[in-house]
Order: sequence, then structure tokens, then C-alpha cells
Amino acid sequence: MQECVFIDGVRTPNGRAHREKGWFRKKRPDELLTEVYKALFERNKAVKPEDVDALFVGTANPSGMQNDVGRLAWLASGYPVRVPTNTLTNQCPSGMSAIMHAARAIRTGETDIMIAAGVEDMEKVPMGANMDFPPRLLQYYNGADLLMGMTAEKVAEQWKISREDMDNMAYWSNKKAAAARDAGKFKNEIVPIMGHDDAGNEMLVDQDQWIRGDVSKEKMATMQPSFKPNGSVTAATSSPLTQGACAVLMMSRKKADALGLSYSYKYSMGVLEGCDPTVMGIGPIPAVKKLFAKTGLTPKDIGPVELNEAFASQSLACIRDLKLDNENAPFERVNVWGGAIALGHPLGESGARITVTLLNVLKTEFPDAKYGLASLCGAFGNAGALLVEKV
Ligand SMILES: CC(C)(COP(=O)(O)OP(=O)(O)OC[C@H]1O[C@@H](n2cnc3c(N)ncnc32)[C@H](O)[C@@H]1OP(=O)(O)O)[C@@H](O)C(=O)NCCC(=O)NCCS
Repeated sequence: MQECVFIDGVRTPNGRAHREKGWFRKKRPDELLTEVYKALFERNKAVKPEDVDALFVGTANPSGMQNDVGRLAWLASGYPVRVPTNTLTNQCPSGMSAIMHAARAIRTGETDIMIAAGVEDMEKVPMGANMDFPPRLLQYYNGADLLMGMTAEKVAEQWKISREDMDNMAYWSNKKAAAARDAGKFKNEIVPIMGHDDAGNEMLVDQDQWIRGDVSKEKMATMQPSFKPNGSVTAATSSPLTQGACAVLMMSRKKADALGLSYSYKYSMGVLEGCDPTVMGIGPIPAVKKLFAKTGLTPKDIGPVELNEAFASQSLACIRDLKLDNENAPFERVNVWGGAIALGHPLGESGARITVTLLNVLKTEFPDAKYGLASLCGAFGNAGALLVEKV
């Protein structure tokens, strides 16, 4: 098998998916993808669009403006028609699946230069829009139990995650994200793009819209549950509705060497795993266990971990069960620059985003670590886990 190395990864800032307040409310998801495709070619001049063997692009809801968005964004960018593009979905792990598919194509020797991407605009293509559940599914599940917020509530109850611990985790996610932003840690991954402020004026956006540097535990404690009367999951302990795109340039090591490109990490292994859709948030538990079983690694062999924060309840359940870090935030190696609760979670983008952030965290905060781990859950019990290794 060929080795597959990561050459570069870029993302748009994450915008709030809101018709009046979202910084990217005037942009379409294909335009967000064009921004990241373009940035990869501008930053890596040795690679031209015509050199790319193929693209895999993940999105959680491939309907409306996101229908075959990978291909249509590529063509709308004026790039060569011969480069094939495959838009795929398995809900939130879609962007991570795109990386796995690209890596496998490279490792088998079928391709040498791949782009894997993820995109979601939760304002233009809302969660669940155009969804038509198979009626037969309802023999097995109550439709309401499959709604994301309800799954987060069930995880909180079954894994006994307290409201206080969830609020504490959301507090630290925001604090760490704000500190990372203020220290310029996201500069290598964020491509500044034009957006609009609340008043409608054009502005260059170079940071995520959702991060709350002034987050307060006192305010959070007063917030009402968002999904269930007497529940414990609030807007503060949920990932917010977001718009964003991310793209990763991957290559066979042989091709990267031939082009004189530098790299520090390679794709080691990726696994997909399923779990009960009514507690979809615990998906990283079986996914990471499967990855550990296949590699023989244990948590102590891993440096940083990027675990997508769909909700604080499911993140805490996964961290505790897998013994990835302390019982409670602040964590030492999980999401050291904050997570999706603060940064935002553009569904199909996030699997690519956490992988890119993981590579940057490895390089800057854990330069001696051999391995980094990224994992996320997804609607209907889809989950993914991905291991990167220092070369
Ligand atoms: C929870 C959810 C329903 C809230 O949506 P919403 O009602 O539109 O609310 P917002 O996110 O705009 O937040 C509601 C209010 O709480 C406030 N808020 C949110 N987090 C806060 C915090 N940490 N501290 C103080 N206020 C906070 C917001 O500012 C907003 O008030 P504002 O409009 O005055 O600014 C929505 O974000 C959601 O569905 N999230 C989950 C998405 C999901 O399922 N993803 C898939 C996971 S697999």
C-alpha cells in the first residue's frame, strides 16, 4: 500500500446559520466550497486543479443547494470537467468519510492527488429539510426519539451527565476557543472570506462567529432546556446552527516527494461504526474502541484528541467511557482549542474540520506526539474515528 500524507487543510470561518445575523447569509454553500478549493491551490502552487485525481465531498443534507454540491461547486469554480467529484453523506461524519475515501483511493494506488472536503449551510439547507422517513422505520423507532436534541437528552439521562457538568464543559469550550482565536492559533486553517455584518455592510471575516469569550456560568444556569420540558440540554450546551466549508489536500507520499511538498503527518487508519440512533451521540465510543482494537493502541498512546461537540452530554459520556481525559472540563488533550459548542458545527463539514484542527494542534501543541485522534457522532447512529500518525 502507498502511504497517504496530509499536505494542507483549510476552512472558512464558521458563520451563524441565521437569515439576518449570519455573517455568510448572502453566500451559498457552493460558494463556501469554492473559497476552500481556491485557497488550497493558492497555498500549494505545485498543484493545479487539473492535477487532482478526484474529490470526495461530504454534506449531511445533500438536497437543494447541497445536491451534488461537491461537483457543482467545482464546475461553478471554472475548474476542469475531467476531475471527478463524489458528493457523499453519512450525516455528521460525512466530511471525515470524505477523508477516509480519499485516503483509501491513494493507499490502494488508484490515485495520487485527492481533495476531501465537507460543507454545510444549516440556514439554506436546514437540518432534516426534505427528509422523508421510511414508514417502516417507525416499526422500530419512535420518530421523535431520533431528533438530535432528544438523543442528547437521553444520553444525559442514561449516562448520568449533570446539567452542571454540561454547563462547565460549554464554558471551557468557549473559553479555550476564545483564547486560541486571540492567540492566532486558527490562522493556519481559516481562510478569511468576505461576509456581511448585522447592518448589511461587507466585511472581511477571519474568525468564527459563535465563540463567546464572555461566557458566564451564571447566565448559562438560567437558560431553559431547548428540546424537552424539564430536560437539561440548552442552547448553550448544544452545538449551534452553523455555515462552513473545509477542504483537505492529500497525496501519496511518493507524489508529494516528487513535487517537493512538505508534510508532517500521514493517514494511519479510519473506521466507521454504528450505534443505537436514539443515543447517536455515544457513537465515538464503539468507533474509537474499534479503531483501538484494530491498531492495538490505547488512549495513552495518543497525543491530542479532537472530539466533535455535538452536545456537551454526548461529549462527556464519550470522554468518560473511553477515558480520554479528566472526568470534567477543562480537559488536557481533548479539544484544546475549544470544540463545536463554541466554534460551531456545520454538520457535514465538521469531520473534515476536526481533522484539520487536529493536524494543527499536533504540530503546534503536541510536536512530540506520534498519534492524534479525531472522532464524531452523527444522526441515526453514524459515527467515525480517524487516526493520524507522525511521519
Ligand atoms: C439548541 C438550538 C435549538 C438553539 O437554537 P436557537 O433557539 O435558534 O437559539 P440560538 O442558538 O440562537 O440561541 C438561543 C439564545 O441563547 C443564547 N445562548 C446560546 N448559548 C449561550 C451561552 N453560552 N450563554 C449565553 N447565552 C447563550 C443565544 O445567544 C440566543 O440568544 P440571542 O438570540 O439573544 O443571541 C439549536 O442551536 C440546535 O438545534 N442545536 C443543535 C444542532 C444539532 O442538532 N446538530 C447536530 C448534532 S449531531
